Amino acid sequence: MIVKAIEKLNDKSIRLIDQTRLPNELVYLNLDDYHDIITAIKKLQVRGAPAIGIAAACGMAVAVAQSGDYSAQYIKTVAEELKASRPTAVNLFWAVDRMLTHWRIENPDNLEKTLACLWNEALAIHEEDKQMCRSIGQHGADLIKEGQSVLTHCNAGALATGGIGTALGVLYVCHEQGKKLHVYADETRPLLQGARLTTWELMQSGIDVTLICDNTAGMLMAQGKINHVIVGADRIAANGDFANKIGTYSVAVLAAEHSIPFYVAAPASTFDLQIASGDEIVIEERLGSEVTEGFGIRTAPDGVKVYSPAFDITPGRLVTYYISDTGLQPGGRSSRPTSR
Ligand code: MRU
Repeated sequence: MIVKAIEKLNDKSIRLIDQTRLPNELVYLNLDDYHDIITAIKKLQVRGAPAIGIAAACGMAVAVAQSGDYSAQYIKTVAEELKASRPTAVNLFWAVDRMLTHWRIENPDNLEKTLACLWNEALAIHEEDKQMCRSIGQHGADLIKEGQSVLTHCNAGALATGGIGTALGVLYVCHEQGKKLHVYADETRPLLQGARLTTWELMQSGIDVTLICDNTAGMLMAQGKINHVIVGADRIAANGDFANKIGTYSVAVLAAEHSIPFYVAAPASTFDLQIASGDEIVIEERLGSEVTEGFGIRTAPDGVKVYSPAFDITPGRLVTYYISDTGLQPGGRSSRPTSR
């Protein structure tokens, strides 16, 4: 069973899986206040680049439904508030801007038409993401052979998107094709998206997965136990540099050292061709408490200084292929031979 991270419930509300409660409890949040959608994005109750774009798009419709205000001033204010929820994933800005463009073109002149206009576009964004995930999965599956093993970092699965996921979408399609594969999931400190979410959703689908601490990947690569690395992305710059969950850069360097192909799976909405390189990507910093007392247990001295960027930038030269909905695009490593 592949889970649905986000769904429209009715014209006033959406339903999200509260991802902070996984894997212990599968709890749904029914949200009919756009402020709660913003809070859900900030608290990572909904997370993953495409999913936060979809949630924000729905948030625009929810906001108009909750207030009955369809004035241009209100809609623009809501859009700005939604965009301020997290800084790194471009899908959030892309989705909200697309909602605004559609609303400007349609120019609805009453509440009913405004709601129809906003929901239609939000659902279109959701549906397109679902289809893009499927295409990414199909293109990526061609790279993986029967019996091979794949390392992934963070969660770029169904929980992070409107469909079967990007990096995990590739694995789901392999599974559907009857290819046996083995997945290693990095636990992904500090918020453990790999341990809590990736292993949970792969196990739901019957895919063979082993959880590893982030610092185990290098040893497994040296032992020849990893054939491919597939990760998602939060923003890909014009030169191929990309932001993804903190730790992705280290995995990419390790993969290059061991000549293991390194793939970035992402839909069109994650490519930000407005920016030349990764230097222009704003990296979100998270609270130190997520590191010193994550999940309620203190693991560092009270008062210690903490630096906790949520994402890092991996240079395009370390990427073998970008797996997008339109196919495979070579990265900076594509011309170099790989040993596996
Ligand atoms: O902080 P998160 O959990 O939102 O970070 C998510 C990631 O880094 C994912 O790999 C990325 O958004 C791609 S999801 C298809």
